[in-house]
Amino acid sequence: MRDFSWYKGKKVLVTGHTGFKGTWLTRMLVNSGAVVTGYSLTPPTDPALFDMAGLEGKIDSVIGDVRDMEHMLEVFTSFQPEIVLHLAAQPIVRDSYKEPRYTYETNVMGTVNLLECVRLTPSVKSVVNVTTDKVYLNEERQEGYKEDEKLDGFDPYSNSKSCSELVTHSYKRSFFTPDMEKGVRTVAVSTARAGNVIGGGDFANDRIVPDCVRAVKAGKTLEVRNPYSVRPYQHVLEPLAIYLTIAKAQEEDPSLQGYYNVGPDDEDCVTTGTLADLFAASWGEGFAWENKSEANAPHEAGFLRLNCDKIKKVFGWKATWNISEAINKTVEFSKVYLAGGDIPSEMDRQINEFLKEANYG
Ligand SMILES: NC(=O)c1ccc[n+]([C@@H]2O[C@H](COP(=O)([O-])OP(=O)(O)OC[C@H]3O[C@@H](n4cnc5c(N)ncnc54)[C@H](O)[C@@H]3O)[C@@H](O)[C@H]2O)c1
Repeated sequence: MRDFSWYKGKKVLVTGHTGFKGTWLTRMLVNSGAVVTGYSLTPPTDPALFDMAGLEGKIDSVIGDVRDMEHMLEVFTSFQPEIVLHLAAQPIVRDSYKEPRYTYETNVMGTVNLLECVRLTPSVKSVVNVTTDKVYLNEERQEGYKEDEKLDGFDPYSNSKSCSELVTHSYKRSFFTPDMEKGVRTVAVSTARAGNVIGGGDFANDRIVPDCVRAVKAGKTLEVRNPYSVRPYQHVLEPLAIYLTIAKAQEEDPSLQGYYNVGPDDEDCVTTGTLADLFAASWGEGFAWENKSEANAPHEAGFLRLNCDKIKKVFGWKATWNISEAINKTVEFSKVYLAGGDIPSEMDRQINEFLKEANYG
């Protein structure tokens, strides 16, 4: 069984804690007894998982912008975190076409500012920068991409995350490698490149599972834009457990820091249409979808498969929930949500179930 009791009493700073992944991660950390400060803008959606996750009074939630270095440094200085998990980002490909400059400012300069705060805060020992599978130069090939392949995302979002990787690499070499020059301290820093996540409580626009839930709520047939495009879907708890695993492992043994892919098994990389079919089967009556392919949609890269041999080898990782189980969990959550049920309890039930089944590491 996965056990994150190591986090009990640890001071963890999470950026992007008000977002979809950040809220689940913060709930996992709080359950493990960590002392959490979050630093983010207000939740990016309305409704928002953060507002229903029962985290009030359990964490210090600071509303701030990662572009505001001075403010972020004040938070680092007063909190003195030991572990930093960086999730804050403009994460939507389509929005990055509408606002490329904002996307780069947040995703690239936000990373620079974060690593500056780490550099200036001696308490920090372990950092995980959350990027994406989209950081690679997509050669539209079948074979999985390994961690040492060329970084050059196509669209502004993907490319900003490639840049965030390069910034991280430079900071590691220049400031956080102990034996480079006298006085340089060790901070273990990794990046984690995950594929598309699904799970309960995602209310973002332009993502297939939230679109399914909105269609059910509105009693409408869902229009699917790209039903034939294959994407590497995994349950949200999958990469979150790996972020926590890396942050812990590299603090204990800095030789484990590095760059890690975390993606689903091949059979769980399905088309958007198959995903909608799985949702329909899991939901039962009252959900239907139709093909509405767009003629002039902005470029979205084709399927990119990650080679995950490295995390399998280093951490004994294997996917815990396959695509059908991930959809079932999302449907279970969504039914509780639509019925006005107890969201924190549902989150904890799913987290505990996941951790019980996740035996790697
Ligand atoms: N959702 C996915 O499928 C997926 C896949 C791979 C990687 N990721 C990465 O995971 C991270 C979290 O994604 P998510 O899906 O939870 O996104 P989200 O939009 O739900 O959350 C983004 C978070 O970042 C914060 N944020 C945005 N701009 C900010 C700024 N300028 N300053 C401070 N905070 C800011 C938001 O307030 C929010 O807390 C992102 O880095 C994203 O690139 C997501």
